[in-house]
This record gives sequence, structure tokens and C-alpha cells, in this order.
Amino acid sequence: MGLMRLFTFALILVLCDTETLSGDGTLVLDYYKETCPLVEEIVRLNVEIAVVKEPRMAASLLRLHFHDCFVLRGGPGWDVLLGRRDSLKASLSGANHFIPAPNSSLETLISSFKQQGLDVGDLVALSGSHTVGMARCISFRQRVYDVSAEEHYDPYKRYTTFRRILRSICPKSGRDNELAPLDFTTPSRFDNHYYTNLLQGNGLLGSDNVLVTEDHEGVIIEQVWAYASNQKHFFEAFAKSMVKMGNINVLTGNEGEIRRKCRFVNS
Ligand SMILES: *[C@@H]1O[C@H](CO)[C@@H](O)[C@H](O)[C@H]1NC(C)=O
Repeated sequence: MGLMRLFTFALILVLCDTETLSGDGTLVLDYYKETCPLVEEIVRLNVEIAVVKEPRMAASLLRLHFHDCFVLRGGPGWDVLLGRRDSLKASLSGANHFIPAPNSSLETLISSFKQQGLDVGDLVALSGSHTVGMARCISFRQRVYDVSAEEHYDPYKRYTTFRRILRSICPKSGRDNELAPLDFTTPSRFDNHYYTNLLQGNGLLGSDNVLVTEDHEGVIIEQVWAYASNQKHFFEAFAKSMVKMGNINVLTGNEGEIRRKCRFVNS
């Protein structure tokens, strides 16, 4: 199973770890050059195998904000800076606190990204990660049944077919864990269809659709149009924002640790 392999990578990284690099508080490209020169190949190969076996793994890894060089087949690629260490604390509530809810308003999304040093441009580009992956019924039920907000923006109610499909997957109550693809046109391909969906009112989550419906200044919509019409442009922006996100709250050198089990602080 995919997760077992993930733990294998974690193990490899632990074995490769060295305390000799003190660093100056920044991440570098060749962190493992001396101590574990093959690490990128090992991780890349194992991630590719994991994604072939279970395509959802690609989305899970994106969600985990996985920092090694991996290539989503056909998707964007970028150089990943290495040397990032794990926190000495672990907090479920802390981890969830900073993740915006799927029914967040645009204002909430913008401010929670801003708190992490990410701007509106990063928000729009990184939302494009919803080109892959699934969400649970419980995360999109409100968007499907509370149509008042949508009708306000869409007086012609052009999108009822999409809503009807979602309702058949996700009833008013129950079946909370039923899944629907975040990008219903090309669910497992990393491409720019997320943005064309948005322009048609067919984002799965409330927090997807507000990018377009609550953007009163039109700046975001312009960016959505740009990515919808030029995939290469989206890939470049996505890569740039992923690198930027990878440099948030970095622990290097003597700060933090490399966890033996990624879910727990070393005892
Ligand atoms: C978002 O969902 C939560 C949990 O279902 C709910 O308590 C909250 O009222 C919702 N927020 C908005 C703005 O609809």
C-alpha cells in the first residue's frame, strides 16, 4: 500500500540524515549531495510507483505539502530546496487551525494565506492543485444544498446538472465520506481544467467557487482566465508558488529534528 512506501521514504531520509550541516537558515538544492547522493532518485522512483498504484496518492502528497523532487506525470516540475526539518511539536488542532475550511469566504482564504506570507496570486495558483484529488461529501454538501448564495451570483441557474450529479453522490444527510473529484472533467490528470471548471461555476468546494464569485475587483478572475487559457502559464505559476510555500516556517540546522516516525515527535 502507498502509505507503507511513504514511511519507507521517511526512513530513507532518516538514514541519510546528518547533523554535520549547520546551514544558515535557508534550504539548499544539494543538501543530501554528500550524505545521500541518490536520495532524489530513490524518492522519485518510489513516489512514481505509489502514484501508479494509487493515483490519489499524488493529491495526498500535494496535500501533505511534500517537499521532495517528484514528478506528477504530465504535470509541472520544479527544483525543490532541501534540508527542511520536522517540528519538535505536533498539534492536530494547530494543523487544522491554519487550513481554511472548504466553505471559507474569499476574504478568509486571502487572510489565511496572507498569515503565511502568501499573496492572492499564490492562492489562485495553489488552488490549482485541486486539478487532482477528491473531497468528501461532508466538505461540499453545503455548497450543493445551500443554493441561495449560488443563485445570487448565477440568476440563470445554468449549473443545475452539475449540482444534480453532486446531490446524487452526496445526500442531504448521511454518506458523509462519499467522494467526488475536485476536478470533475479530468479527475486524475494534472492540467488546467480546474480553472475552466471555475469559470463555468463547476468548482466542487465552496472555497473553489468563491475565487470567481466573490472577486469583486476582477483581479482573480483575470488570473483564472489566464490559467484556463494557457496551461504552461499555470504550471509556471504553480511551481513558483510551491517553492514559495516550501520556504514557509523553515526549520534548519539545529532547529527541529528529523522524525523517525513522521507522525510523532522523537521521544
Ligand atoms: C462552514 O461549515 C461549518 C461546519 O459545517 C459551519 O459551522 C459554518 O457555519 C459554515 N460557515 C459558513 C460561512 O457557512
